[in-house]
Amino acid sequence: MIAIDVHLDADAAAAMARDVRAGLSASPKELSPKYFYDERGSQLFEQITELDEYYPTRAEREILSERSGEILAAAGIPGTLVELGSGSASKTRHLLSAMRDAGCLRTYVPVDISEEITHETARVLVDEYPGLIVRGLVCDFENDLERIHSDGSARLIAFLGGTIGNLYPGERREFLTRIAALFGPGDHLLLGTDLVKDAARLEAAYDDAAGVTAEFNKNVLQVLNRELTADFDLDAFEHVARYDAREERMDIRLRSLAEQTVQLADLDLSVQFAAGEEMRTEISTKFTRERLECVYAEVGLELRGWFTDTAGDYALSLARIA
Ligand code: SAH
Ligand code: AVI
Repeated sequence: MIAIDVHLDADAAAAMARDVRAGLSASPKELSPKYFYDERGSQLFEQITELDEYYPTRAEREILSERSGEILAAAGIPGTLVELGSGSASKTRHLLSAMRDAGCLRTYVPVDISEEITHETARVLVDEYPGLIVRGLVCDFENDLERIHSDGSARLIAFLGGTIGNLYPGERREFLTRIAALFGPGDHLLLGTDLVKDAARLEAAYDDAAGVTAEFNKNVLQVLNRELTADFDLDAFEHVARYDAREERMDIRLRSLAEQTVQLADLDLSVQFAAGEEMRTEISTKFTRERLECVYAEVGLELRGWFTDTAGDYALSLARIA
């Protein structure tokens, strides 16, 4: 059974317009990474996950394929799996299969801003897991978390892929506080985080030789061209990916190759870029176990399980109300 609620309405379009206007009027300019993920952006992200340089997906898959049974046992054998930023849910199958094998699998709740990929994922999963109930939610999880379905059974709320690293510390705190507020007594959070490592490997992971990440980054300009009738010339910008060791995060930007003016007709806005000017499009924070323990403590959660890949590149942590 599939039921998908879509909450990308006129309010979402107005929020995007507001957000983009504020970001392009700020100094330095900035765009939110949530606008990467139209249909093309989701496809490009899938390609990124297959790149040699991009290790986080492989590392997370290794952990899930080997330890999903253990993770579920530590999470109290939940009947519902909620997944925030679910995308294609490719690694999630390890958790779903472990739930099926434990006889507890009832409901999967994918939550994603991209409508196409959420429908497609739901369709594929009900074929793969007969009897599975999919109650999807297409929304901005920063606004609509409270709409997540609950049938009273214990839930595992998974936020995989390291997407938590794309939030600023204040946003992250607010987001985790709201997740904690949703928790019933048996609920757990399963959080994927990329770990701090040397800058060269990180920078290669975000600036691959084939140029897929560069195309993914520039796709946000295409989204603005379509959604806000803008006239960004994608060839007039280049991809920049630097590791900021002080903040322990990748800093991803688009650099204007020349002095130029961009029009956003729907916003009645004209934006000047100087030659060499950089506009941030994403941060991707890297964590240590100690930092994550502090992050959890700040929002009233406690770390209950820590699972890493053999190379120690990536961690899945399990948390519950302290
Ligand atoms: N969990 C998958 C996909 C990670 S890519 C994996 O591990 O491979 C990040 C996903 O989060 C995308 O599918 C994107 O559409 C979604 N996303 C990003 N910002 C979002 C937001 N604000 N609200 C809902 N979904 C969001
Ligand atoms: C979705 N998110 C966790 C990815 C990351 O690694 O921060 C997005 C990404 N950006 C460039 N490459 C991948």
